[in-house]
Amino acid sequence: MTYLITGGAGFIGGNFVHYMASKNAKIVVLDKLTYAGNLETLEPVRDKITFVKADICDRNAIDRIFEEHKPDVVVNFAAESHVDRSIDNPGVFLQTNVIGAQVLMDACRKHAPDGLGIRFHQVGTDEVYGDLPLDRPDLLFTEDTPLHTSSPYSASKAAADLLALAYHRTYKLPVTISRCSNNYGPYHFPEKLIPLMIANALSGKSLPVYGKGENVRDWLYVEDHCKAIDLILERGKIGEVYNIGGHNEMRNIDIVRLILAELGKPESLIAYVADRAGHDLRYAIDPSKIGALGWLPQTPFSVGIKKTVAWYLENRSWWERIVTGEYREYYARMYGER
Ligand code: NAD
Ligand code: TYD
Repeated sequence: MTYLITGGAGFIGGNFVHYMASKNAKIVVLDKLTYAGNLETLEPVRDKITFVKADICDRNAIDRIFEEHKPDVVVNFAAESHVDRSIDNPGVFLQTNVIGAQVLMDACRKHAPDGLGIRFHQVGTDEVYGDLPLDRPDLLFTEDTPLHTSSPYSASKAAADLLALAYHRTYKLPVTISRCSNNYGPYHFPEKLIPLMIANALSGKSLPVYGKGENVRDWLYVEDHCKAIDLILERGKIGEVYNIGGHNEMRNIDIVRLILAELGKPESLIAYVADRAGHDLRYAIDPSKIGALGWLPQTPFSVGIKKTVAWYLENRSWWERIVTGEYREYYARMYGER
């Protein structure tokens, strides 16, 4: 089996590549290496994978890659993923997250050896369901919760999910979709809440908390997400959506305080800043459908956050080189001459 993993130089895709490489899967990583893609993330598994630099929106390049590598399974992590950037500039989100997904699914149809279509898994987000009220802890997102997006990011992800379901219904393309809650763990780009707060605290910078810090997210250790996707690839029902979540709801301010305590830094570093426009209040997942396939989150937050903080302490050069912009020179140095 050859797995084509798009967006594999990013946070979750990179962790998935590590996970699948540990199972000795044959892996082709395809990534455009935007600001969020970092080949240093793939350095530990470099000998076990093939890397191709390409844009999922580039139909000719995608056709060539499918012809050359003949994937049996495509897992699409490639996306613009940061809500704040989508508020600033929505266009690239629609391009990559919607048109890119379409180009990949067209290639899955066109290059299928049996004419039925190459297996396609779309990595989605719980943000497609919009948000839940803070005072109704009984409410959770199920796969049947109506889509009700708040940001250009989540709207683009919802469009991709609907397109994947349409390709299944119309063309019988064998697709599955997962919708996961907020991930955390190693190789997380330091623009998202947890790695940004760790990096800022270690650099003695202030920690910008949006609004009052009362918004709630359902945090899942990234390795648990990778295992869930692998399980859906093996046992998931074609044409179905699976929610993935950690049953671990936390307020942003409590996460920030926990990180400061873990690092022995003072709470005086916290700076309350203007709220995000359209800021979703609460996300919370009901993961019973994937639970029925045999999946359960294995890493409690108390353990995962310690592992994550330790990783950022031990791998300072990885995130410091991102903060300084130096990581972008890596590709030119390692691949420029090849
Ligand atoms: P990320 O921003 O860390 O990584 C995205 C990767 O995609 C980068 O390597 C980037 O270079 C690549 N990429 C971007 N545009 C591309 C293009 N046009 N062609 C090829 N490659 C391109 O994102 P992430 O946090 O790892 O998220 C991965 C996926 O998981 C996304 O689809 C995201 O919507 C979804 N997701 C993320 C979370 C989370 O908490 N981070 C939660 C649920 C779902
Ligand atoms: P983020 O990591 O951007 O993920 P998402 O918006 O996709 O859930 O943000 C997580 C939460 O943290 C969200 O409620 C916004 C908040 N946040 C801050 O308070 N300060 C920050 O600097 C960032 C990046 C996020």
